[in-house]
Amino acid sequence: MHRLSQVEIGIPDAAREAARGFYRDLGLAETTPGRFATTDGGEQLALVSVPRRGLAGLTVGVDDADDLGRAARLAKLGVAPTRDGSTLRASEPATGTCVTLAIEPRCAQKASAPLATDGPGRIVRRNDRSPAVYVTETPRPRKLSHVVTTSADPGATRRFFTEGLGFRVSDEIPDFGASFMRCSTDHHNVLVQHGPFSILHHVAWEMENADAVGRAASEMVARDPSRHVWGLGRHAIGSNYFWYLRDPAGNFVEYTSDLDVIDEVEAWRVATSAVAPAALAVWGPPVPQQFVLPDDVAAIMAEQGS
Ligand SMILES: [Fe+2]
Repeated sequence: MHRLSQVEIGIPDAAREAARGFYRDLGLAETTPGRFATTDGGEQLALVSVPRRGLAGLTVGVDDADDLGRAARLAKLGVAPTRDGSTLRASEPATGTCVTLAIEPRCAQKASAPLATDGPGRIVRRNDRSPAVYVTETPRPRKLSHVVTTSADPGATRRFFTEGLGFRVSDEIPDFGASFMRCSTDHHNVLVQHGPFSILHHVAWEMENADAVGRAASEMVARDPSRHVWGLGRHAIGSNYFWYLRDPAGNFVEYTSDLDVIDEVEAWRVATSAVAPAALAVWGPPVPQQFVLPDDVAAIMAEQGS
């Protein structure tokens, strides 16, 4: 496995056109109606029609047929994948998410420009303004970063991704039933956490740097203030900058940058932390209630009497 290459977000038909506009505004290029590309990762988002918003599918890029063959271990978990040439598909049993492994080329990202950021006693920029003030175009997402979903059985979901597909756990918060898992060198590509039922929490898009996160999110919110959810801040787990927005169907979207990279398994120490406020952010605005419990989830729970 080498990357999280695509996500399918379920959007009810009533919100589809507004959602297409939202994702165009987010800086994604609409290749065909409802399908979107990032600058580095190619086509990485598809909006699919569903009755209730959520995570419909994920595609994981793999190198070769041997990688597909190793997914036969899903059988030990009682999952029967279907294989078709260069792809293998399986349904994650606890959330119903359709996960596809696809043989595809690795994503070679062009190196970011060096950060000309001064610090006390460390001056890298002299007699000039920051490049950040010269930017005239809205920054665009470089690639799909990660997806976060709740699961009523987070242990089963974790086993599917780790024991079944070969994802590695980077960090975990047992009290939340949360596992940060990767299929690439990104700290996490899939985060599963416990919830009363399975629903998409957010999809994150990698930006050039913190300036790009702040600038792109500010423009999204300037166009429609109701899009704002939470940010700017910096997460503790994964170390990434974040700014969360909400799409017209209620799915959260994160602009992110500077996520930890793990390219030596032995060099990384998995943290198993207890519940702590710092688990969500080391700094940022107060956590909004809707981030912890999205409005529509609260409504569904109230309906179910849970
Ligand atoms: Fe995130």
